[in-house]
Amino acid sequence: MSAVEIRICATADELRDGVGVIVHYFGRDKPDDEWLERWLSVFALERMLVAVEDDGSIVGGAGAFGLRMTVPGGAQLPTAGVTVVGVLPTHRRRGILRSMMRAQLDDVHERGEPLAALWASEETIYGRYGYGLASLNAQFDIDKSHHAFRPGVETVGRVRLVDLDAAAQLLPPVYDAVQRVTPGMYERSEIWWRNRQLVDPENLRFGGSPKHVAVLEVDGEPQAYAMYRLHVAFGDLGPETKLRTIEVIGANPAATASIWRYLLDVDWTKTISVGLQPVDHPLFLLLARPSFSKPTLSDGLWIRLVDVGAALSGRTYAGDASLVLDVRDAFCQWNEGRWRLRDGEATRTNDDADIALDVSDLGSVYLGGFTFRELQRAGRLDELTGGAVYLADATFRTEGLPWCPEIF
Ligand SMILES: CC(C)(COP(=O)(O)OP(=O)(O)OC[C@H]1O[C@@H](n2cnc3c(N)ncnc32)[C@H](O)[C@@H]1OP(=O)(O)O)[C@@H](O)C(=O)NCCC(=O)NCCS
Repeated sequence: MSAVEIRICATADELRDGVGVIVHYFGRDKPDDEWLERWLSVFALERMLVAVEDDGSIVGGAGAFGLRMTVPGGAQLPTAGVTVVGVLPTHRRRGILRSMMRAQLDDVHERGEPLAALWASEETIYGRYGYGLASLNAQFDIDKSHHAFRPGVETVGRVRLVDLDAAAQLLPPVYDAVQRVTPGMYERSEIWWRNRQLVDPENLRFGGSPKHVAVLEVDGEPQAYAMYRLHVAFGDLGPETKLRTIEVIGANPAATASIWRYLLDVDWTKTISVGLQPVDHPLFLLLARPSFSKPTLSDGLWIRLVDVGAALSGRTYAGDASLVLDVRDAFCQWNEGRWRLRDGEATRTNDDADIALDVSDLGSVYLGGFTFRELQRAGRLDELTGGAVYLADATFRTEGLPWCPEIF
């Protein structure tokens, strides 16, 4: 078997081949020049690792965006947003992913980013590298015949449809207001908006209309928006269009209810398909018949504490309890050992531990998506001091569930 070298991508053409690996699984051609240019406006070439055969061909790739992600308490922590990970089917199960994860996490650690985050294609892949499932993803498929709100929900403001240029001005303030207080969301630069959210190449519409953007304004100020596509269809009895949301965000409860009322009322639609929502999304409680929204669950964001001390010290806590966590971390042994959490700071300690757990499970509770009690019930931690799980949950408690509205 030939040797495969893992190294940093040197040129835009290598990036094309590196990204081409995951694109292969999407059944598409390698990225074109226009795509590469957009990608390089938000992604540093030196953050792309490629797996290279001794004949020079690229058989694997793994990249990372440099994100700043909100953690409980509102700090924005530097976070490696792991993306475009793939190994060609000709080279699978020879340890190439493992070698890329090794190189990537070493690099993230050296850069001083305390967190890494990703969306997984399959839940079985990343736990072995210390990633834990940190948020759940709700999907709703709302039948138009059951789209009524419960009585008494009032709507505010006025909705107008805007083009993508106007959206670049109107949407970011709404997103920013929610992002700053929502663990799991990350900052978007102007270029991120323009080159990721607000581009609309025809080959990525998958049978849908161009992107529509509706903005809800109250007293002339944007307070909510919806980006969506229409998948137009006609049946024997008339229109049967599916409205698929891309991103819907409201800065406050009234604006959120109002933008959803707008979406649910669009004529000619038979179903409204809504993905990438937090499980505690208010839509469920706004609807008169919530179960007819057919909610389904899947895995959301995966989080890896790359530097346990910096990550734990980077968020805030609901109490000033003192707790010792004994963290197992086979893949990044620099984290291994006991950490005392006191007054919001995590420091190394030799004191006896209250709870022992794997770093991937600490990733699951870190943003508030799961509780220590849930981990305990699933046999995923050891409570070494009576009451420690209760105390840990009181300490890590957050106001809402984490949410990441975008797959990166
Ligand atoms: C998933 C993928 C990247 C794995 O790459 P690979 O080079 O074959 O993985 P490795 O040989 O390094 O395997 C490392 C370990 O992960 C396991 N593994 C890899 N892919 C797995 C999968 N899909 N399900 C379960 N286990 C998996 C291997 O069995 C191995 O386990 P071990 O360490 O206990 O021996 C590759 O199969 C692929 O590109 N798949 C399609 C695209 C994709 O899903 N990419 C990930 C996007 S998030």
